[in-house]
Amino acid sequence: MPADETTPPAPRPPAPTRVLSGIQPTGRFHWGNYFGAIRQYIDLQTVGEAYYFIADLHALTTVREPDRLRALVHDAAVDLVSLGLDPDHATLFVQSDVPEVTELTWLLMTVTPMGLLERCHAYKDKKTRGLPADAGLFTYPVLMSADILAYDATVVPVGEDQVQHIEVCRDLAGTFNHLYGEVFTLPKPRLVEGGGRVPGTDGQKMSKSYENTLDVFEDLAAQKKKIMRITTDSRPMEEPKNPDDDHLFALYSLMAPEADRLKMADLYRRGGFGYGEVKKALVEASSQFFAEARSRRAALEADPERIESILAAGAERARAKARDVLDRARRACGLARDKAGKPAISGQPADKPSGKGGRA
Ligand code: TRP
Repeated sequence: MPADETTPPAPRPPAPTRVLSGIQPTGRFHWGNYFGAIRQYIDLQTVGEAYYFIADLHALTTVREPDRLRALVHDAAVDLVSLGLDPDHATLFVQSDVPEVTELTWLLMTVTPMGLLERCHAYKDKKTRGLPADAGLFTYPVLMSADILAYDATVVPVGEDQVQHIEVCRDLAGTFNHLYGEVFTLPKPRLVEGGGRVPGTDGQKMSKSYENTLDVFEDLAAQKKKIMRITTDSRPMEEPKNPDDDHLFALYSLMAPEADRLKMADLYRRGGFGYGEVKKALVEASSQFFAEARSRRAALEADPERIESILAAGAERARAKARDVLDRARRACGLARDKAGKPAISGQPADKPSGKGGRA
């Protein structure tokens, strides 16, 4: 059929799913981090293109010891790969290895209203508590926006506490696009199913600040001690119990195979068992659950070069993408002085990542 004015335009192909998330390197991951976030990243790595990075620039707002920061970044990478983040599926890199993102942060900063950042909780909380805040903390959501926009991410898996930042990102991208044309892709947050709430050893939400964590790669003997000390109620053994309002059962459910979980639920309802037995079962189930990750971790620890080469390759891929987006943004707002969007400085290969990703 010949095309004429009445032929509707061909539908735009749907935007490819591009998943991205940043992970703060705050020390050893605990079960809450794993079930609340990391597991979802791993599940999503096969859904579309996936980018995951270790947010060392963000961490700089809290970690002030260089050696510690380096170690935290390295350990986070080792842990993520051990847990199943597969560098053949996902691009894993370190945030600061892609300097294009910090340049993009500036472009976004010029369209960021102060009031928007004043309402963001990390800064607001500090201020309300009368603590001094630096500009890094204040502009944290702008850097995070650049992180997301630099890779044309469409889906950003995050916890509830980060949703506000995704809103900021959408807001800034929208303003920039409105001023300069369609430069940025607007992302959507994706929350973990079921809220991702994992109870800690005291029954409250598992969190470092409550000192109630069980860590993914903790020494097994030390972990067993912690599990055996998990607080439980003091009802008599014979009394039937509802598994659904018991945090010990909630933890067991995360770790145990479905058939075992059902059997345990049955035991709860019938009564006549002790919490000690459940704890022992939890020790066993969790050591099984993370056994493969532990052995992968041992192998990676024995070969530190391997993780560095994964990160270098990831940085190279990430930079190529970020460079494209940054060029688009520079061109749109009038910074680039030639049509290709390159700075008019000779000998500056604006479109060629160094290939080393800065991790020599
Ligand atoms: N702020 C996030 C956190 O603390 C980490 C982060 C940085 C991030 N940049 C990001 C998350 C971009 C998603 C997308 O958890």
